Amino acid sequence: MTDETRLRRYEPVWRASAEFLRARKNDIHVPISFGLCQELLTHYPDADADICSLAILLHDIGWYQIDMVDILEKGFGPNMMQSDVRFLHESEGVRMSAEVLAATGWSASVIEQVGAIIDGHDTRPYPRSLNDRIVRDADKLWRFTVAGAAVASDWFKCTPQQYVLKQDQTYKLLETEAGPVIAAREQALSRKILLTDFL
Ligand SMILES: [Fe+2]
Ligand SMILES: [Fe+2]
Repeated sequence: MTDETRLRRYEPVWRASAEFLRARKNDIHVPISFGLCQELLTHYPDADADICSLAILLHDIGWYQIDMVDILEKGFGPNMMQSDVRFLHESEGVRMSAEVLAATGWSASVIEQVGAIIDGHDTRPYPRSLNDRIVRDADKLWRFTVAGAAVASDWFKCTPQQYVLKQDQTYKLLETEAGPVIAAREQALSRKILLTDFL
């Protein structure tokens, strides 16, 4: 399936979730991670492209239900990966994704499989399946992109240079073999484009 065909396949889901993706710059994060997910899928023909694509598209819509001040103070504060708002965006994401997928005609089986990936996607220390590993890597790989550095350096109150260069921890979290290769490519591109040797 071409990228264009795949985009068309999920167009109703994009449209149904567009409003929810306005929170927390998810209208930047999610399209980029969706593209990275498509790239990862080319390496893993055994993965289910629909499940992975729908899960990455919908994984963060739960942030829509959470106040932006709370997101910045708790979602990025100390112990951020185990904060209340972090768990809440996951459980709300499971609930909302089921509604969006049912409204756009996806089956109960798809809804269940997508929900299982969204559930605990930030707080669960282990992946549940190959599909899950792909989505978890696509979610994290955006941190290496120029847009990821632009957005997340504000969230973490650091310079783009500090953000781009301090991704050693993220490398350790990647769970596919293709992930670190893509990460290194995007990190090199971000260093070049953002002139992090100088700035
Ligand atoms: Fe998340
Ligand atoms: Fe995310």
